[in-house]
Amino acid sequence: MIIAIDGPAGAGKSTVAKKLAQKMGFLYIDTGAMYRAVTLKALENKADFKDEKAIVEIARAAKIDLKSLKNGSEENVFLDGRDVTEDIRHPRITKYVSDVAKIPDVREAMLRLQRALGGSRDSVMEGRDIGTVVFPNADKKFFLDATGEERTKRRFKELKLKGQDVTEKDIECDIKNRDKIDSTRTCAPLRRAEDAIYIDTTNMGIEEVVDTLYKYVENTKS
Ligand code: DC
Repeated sequence: MIIAIDGPAGAGKSTVAKKLAQKMGFLYIDTGAMYRAVTLKALENKADFKDEKAIVEIARAAKIDLKSLKNGSEENVFLDGRDVTEDIRHPRITKYVSDVAKIPDVREAMLRLQRALGGSRDSVMEGRDIGTVVFPNADKKFFLDATGEERTKRRFKELKLKGQDVTEKDIECDIKNRDKIDSTRTCAPLRRAEDAIYIDTTNMGIEEVVDTLYKYVENTKS
């Protein structure tokens, strides 16, 4: 079974997807982490982000592994055998990742990996194009959303807790910028699949969102 969760940055996808996977004993797959790992490799190789060919080569050569604990509670991201779980969350990665993710051949390389992983086990997969492109036949599709203000607040709190030196204004600009790039790119833009269940999480707590999704999934099974 594949559960697809899409939506913009800060809508609560990662936390919800992780908890839902844990609850169901499914594999948790964070596809944004893959684009982030490619971005990290490009930065480390001092690649020119305007040189799409160079970025595609980096994406094709990158060995990306997501290792999830059996109960799906945590996931570590490996790039060429090195644990980069923390590094890929750095603001310098966030700054460039949407530009990397909009390159069609980079997406093609990640798509293969995503389909292979998702096809290997019951999974909860989160991203921007899971219900539309990666697994259009997913058993259940959700589109999580929240107001821009709420998404900014959540991201700010999350990064502050991690000790990152950011302002709310930085986060607001970053989210607006990424929303724009992610939803206007020509290849696999951020979009709600017609058959995805839309959930506005603005005034909902995490557990409430997880329970809502869980109930939908349980109803599908029976
Ligand atoms: O969810 P995130 O913030 O870690 O995602 C990082 C970037 O990767 C995001 O700006 C858009 C891109 N992305 C994508 O284009 N397609 C996906 N399936 C997942 C993420």
